[in-house]
Amino acid sequence: MKFTWFRAASGLTAFATAISAQAVVPILCPSINVTAIDNVIPTTNVTLSYGNATDSAPSVNVTLAMSAPTVLLEAVASISIVDCSPNSVDVTFTNTEAFSAAQASWPLDGNFTLITNHMGDCDVELERGFFLVTSLTWSNDTLKATARSTAQDIAAAADTAEISFGGLSAAPLAKRALVLDPTFTLPVSYSLAPDTTLFSYAPYLTVAANAADFSAELTFSGYLKYSFLLFKLEDLYFDIDTTFDASVTLSANVGAKYNNTFTYAAPALSYSFVNVPGILSLGPAVTFAIGAEVAASAAVDITTTVSVDLADGNVHVDALHQASSSTSGWVPTYNAGANISASAEVNINPFASLTVELEIEILGGLVDLSTGVTAKPRFNNEFVFTAVEGVDLTGVIGLNPDGECSQGLAIQSDFEFEVDLFVTQFYSTTLYEYKADIADVCYSWEA
Ligand SMILES: *[C@@H]1O[C@H](CO)[C@@H](O)[C@H](O)[C@H]1NC(C)=O
Ligand SMILES: *[C@@H]1O[C@H](CO)[C@@H](O)[C@H](O)[C@H]1NC(C)=O
Ligand SMILES: *[C@@H]1O[C@H](CO)[C@@H](O)[C@H](O)[C@H]1NC(C)=O
Ligand SMILES: *[C@@H]1O[C@H](CO)[C@@H](O)[C@H](O)[C@H]1NC(C)=O
Ligand SMILES: *[C@@H]1O[C@H](CO)[C@@H](O)[C@H](O)[C@H]1NC(C)=O
Ligand SMILES: *[C@@H]1O[C@H](CO)[C@@H](O)[C@H](O)[C@H]1NC(C)=O
Ligand SMILES: *[C@@H]1O[C@H](CO)[C@@H](O)[C@H](O)[C@H]1NC(C)=O
Ligand SMILES: *[C@@H]1O[C@H](CO)[C@@H](O)[C@H](O)[C@H]1NC(C)=O
Repeated sequence: MKFTWFRAASGLTAFATAISAQAVVPILCPSINVTAIDNVIPTTNVTLSYGNATDSAPSVNVTLAMSAPTVLLEAVASISIVDCSPNSVDVTFTNTEAFSAAQASWPLDGNFTLITNHMGDCDVELERGFFLVTSLTWSNDTLKATARSTAQDIAAAADTAEISFGGLSAAPLAKRALVLDPTFTLPVSYSLAPDTTLFSYAPYLTVAANAADFSAELTFSGYLKYSFLLFKLEDLYFDIDTTFDASVTLSANVGAKYNNTFTYAAPALSYSFVNVPGILSLGPAVTFAIGAEVAASAAVDITTTVSVDLADGNVHVDALHQASSSTSGWVPTYNAGANISASAEVNINPFASLTVELEIEILGGLVDLSTGVTAKPRFNNEFVFTAVEGVDLTGVIGLNPDGECSQGLAIQSDFEFEVDLFVTQFYSTTLYEYKADIADVCYSWEA
């Protein structure tokens, strides 16, 4: 029998519900005490936090080892005004204590960095600005420091950046609002219109999805470290937690002897989860697909129902150390049933897949990674039929001890589940494999 691969053209309805991206804005790290005088004193270790303005805990923390001693101006309560021109930053204090502490500790010859977060005057609104100070003058009367300065980007201002992310919750799509931890939660659900034709190749084969429903819930969190001095990604790992449900009823009408495979992929759903301009952009994409291998030795109608439920799948992805990547959970529960209408040898092997891809763009494109996991449940059904009947595989146990089906129907059915990991730049691997026999049965129609 001829065996070729087909990829079905996707003329698909778009996802019904739009997903809204989360806005993250610069916020002060809650562990910083703005009244502490220490914050006036330059340090090479600063933490910049970003979050949803209404969340108390930041969802992104960027800890920088600065090239020069640095003051994070927003961390000082007694700074009242920060005013910028292209080559200067003016800082006005509200009290002499902070002013004197600055005067005593800010290097006279400059060579230190001021970080601003002043809504458009010094920096682009909703971003922070970095200014390398080259000289300073002080006005004791007005409590004002005037710094000659040049704007820097983060790569010039810092030696290394450590970024941790997690804690955002996306607007829910599904009614179910499961909160998983760690918490970038993305609920996605998707259904095909009833009786969608998935594949048609007249006169041999028509496959329709009588019903197809998918839902998934995903959370992300992670950490990365980048060295600007070495231009090197020193660490990158993240976790994806997921639940996944798929239930699909397919009917295949085979008009003549046929052996083929098709895949029907829903359009990728992608959006920007987090975007901290110039620092971190995370864009997950989710793709559902269903397909089947169909082979029959004669004209036949086949219906098959499959469902897979994954309560808890966790994957830890270490981009630089493949051996540290691992999974836990991913134990599926599943159900399958199939009926065929006529006496024929039939293979119908439906599969459903969920691909979760994380596009990570770090530091304005310095590091560009696409990485993710594909979960692929697959049911293999093989019928050898010598009588006309229908049979439901659900719950079938027990083998005919003879193992002979001279008059009847032999069914071999099993379930395979595979979780593949890809870190496009570095490696791809199968993280998890599961295989179970559902039925290996001999039915006799004589009795
Ligand atoms: C912050 O999160 C809450 C709840 O998740 C949401 O209702 C709100 O719109 C978000 N705010 C912003 C600025 O995104
Ligand atoms: C913040 O710092 C001030 C001054 O050092 C101190 O009095 C206050 O207790 C601190 N607040 C907290 C919450 O630590
Ligand atoms: C920088 O500061 C953070 C938070 O205050 C701290 O956890 C970290 O250890 C510090 N790093 C260095 C190199 O001092
Ligand atoms: C600025 O300070 C850094 C560290 O404090 C030092 O390595 C560098 O040489 C200084 N640059 C100038 C121009 O003084
Ligand atoms: C401003 O005050 C500082 C310390 O209080 C002092 O060292 C400096 O001379 C004063 N400058 C002027 C112009 O008075
Ligand atoms: C960022 O730091 C704050 C304060 O230390 C902490 O509460 C929060 O959980 C951190 N967020 C992430 C994503 O690391
Ligand atoms: C369909 O083709 C595949 C690959 O050539 C083969 O393994 C399979 O046995 C065929 N199925 C039938 C029912 O002929
Ligand atoms: C197979 O046929 C039986 C009896 O008509 C029916 O109850 C069952 O739902 C069918 N299974 C499938 C997968 O269509």
